[in-house]
Amino acid sequence: MVIKESLRLHPSGPLPPPRECMKDTNVADYDIPAKARVYVSIWSVGRDPKYWGDDAEDFRPERFENTAVNFKGAHMEFIPFGAGRRICPGISLAMAGVELVYASLLPEFDWALPYGMVKEDIDLAANMGLVCSKKVPLVLLLPSSPLT
Ligand code: HEM
Repeated sequence: MVIKESLRLHPSGPLPPPRECMKDTNVADYDIPAKARVYVSIWSVGRDPKYWGDDAEDFRPERFENTAVNFKGAHMEFIPFGAGRRICPGISLAMAGVELVYASLLPEFDWALPYGMVKEDIDLAANMGLVCSKKVPLVLLLPSSPLT
């Protein structure tokens, strides 16, 4: 749920490559002519209060509890890996990688913020670009192992 919520609010590819409309069509009251280039903002979709409620901007992993919504391209309100025929083919590898990092770092260590810093001080702003990275690197105290 934490990983899903992170991908919802901070998709690493917020603006995927454009699509070209094959024929004149109408989506959500917009007329889209054939051949028009259409950009879908994954970032905006993930923060749309229409789908995620008034607390859409809040980091609340529990929202994924007891719901079938996943990132495999069938739920259009949550498309961190895109959707359709050009959906990211690396989903399985990406998820294995993210889970491996979390599983290696979280259970074994007690992480803490540097002295005097509270979680509200963490700057989550992202760099501009096709692939998003954190603008301000995350700084944590050297972890202590609960085992020692
Ligand atoms: C958390 C990690 C990742 C995220 C959030 C992500 C996200 C995305 C997104 C949004 C797209 C565009 C999909 C669309 O246009 O509908 C994409 C495309 C693609 N991704 Fe990923 N990706 C991730 C990891 C990976 C990995 C690990 C690989 C390969 C090992 C990979 C390979 C590709 C390729 C080849 C495409 C282009 C597919 C095409 O245009 O046909 N991605 N990815």
